Amino acid sequence: MDKAKRTAIIAGNWKMNKTPSEAKALLSEIAPLVKDADCEVIACVPYVDLAVAVEATKETNIKIGAENCHWAESGAFTGEISTGMLKEVGVEYVVLGHSERRQYFGETDETVNKRTKAALAAGLKPIVCVGELLWERECDITEEVIARQIKLDLYDVSEEDLKNVVIAYEPVWAIGTGKTATADQAEEVCAFIRATLAKLYNQAAADGVTIQYGGSMNDGNADELLSKTNVDGGLIGGASLVAEKFAAIVKAASK
Ligand code: PGA
Repeated sequence: MDKAKRTAIIAGNWKMNKTPSEAKALLSEIAPLVKDADCEVIACVPYVDLAVAVEATKETNIKIGAENCHWAESGAFTGEISTGMLKEVGVEYVVLGHSERRQYFGETDETVNKRTKAALAAGLKPIVCVGELLWERECDITEEVIARQIKLDLYDVSEEDLKNVVIAYEPVWAIGTGKTATADQAEEVCAFIRATLAKLYNQAAADGVTIQYGGSMNDGNADELLSKTNVDGGLIGGASLVAEKFAAIVKAASK
């Protein structure tokens, strides 16, 4: 399958930014700027912003995602949010295994796998994040790290369910640092992810998966990154909080 047949997806990852009223304001700024997008546009927002965000984007082409979810349906998990809670609010996507969760909150490939399966079972589309640390790249083990994450995070995910999975390649050294991977580096790893998926499933299944790049993607570098064969979109942190910048990236993905 050629790139043009895959769904290009630009997703904002707001992280721990914006209160509900600020979220409403930012989304109403973004909406008119992206209304003609020829790609999928998503805003992944903090839990308390979700209801407001779903309401604010009801008549628009923007879809709403959460930034995590738990794997259990309910129970004694203080501070956690279930997939059912997200579904009822109208959420469609959920970011899982972001490197900040892996780094600061003890997220492991095993828990990412549990969350991914729970999200899929509930009808949510997971955006599963993978990426190497700087020292792993320096030790030349990027491919081992990525293959391990892909295999473990997607363990026991069926070929049918894979159709609803988005992969985000986010080199940890490029997140929030202003250091972007070069377009060639991004392409190399995104192509490797697709090859790994082809081995785990088959080529056709791998060819259908949207693979995003994330890590300091902005309005200045999006064009070049998104021109690459295996880079089907972006997961955008900092630049997703500025309407014009986010819209410019959406425009770059719409070409
Ligand atoms: P950044 O974040 O664009 O601010 O580097 C990307 C991400 O963490 O998803």
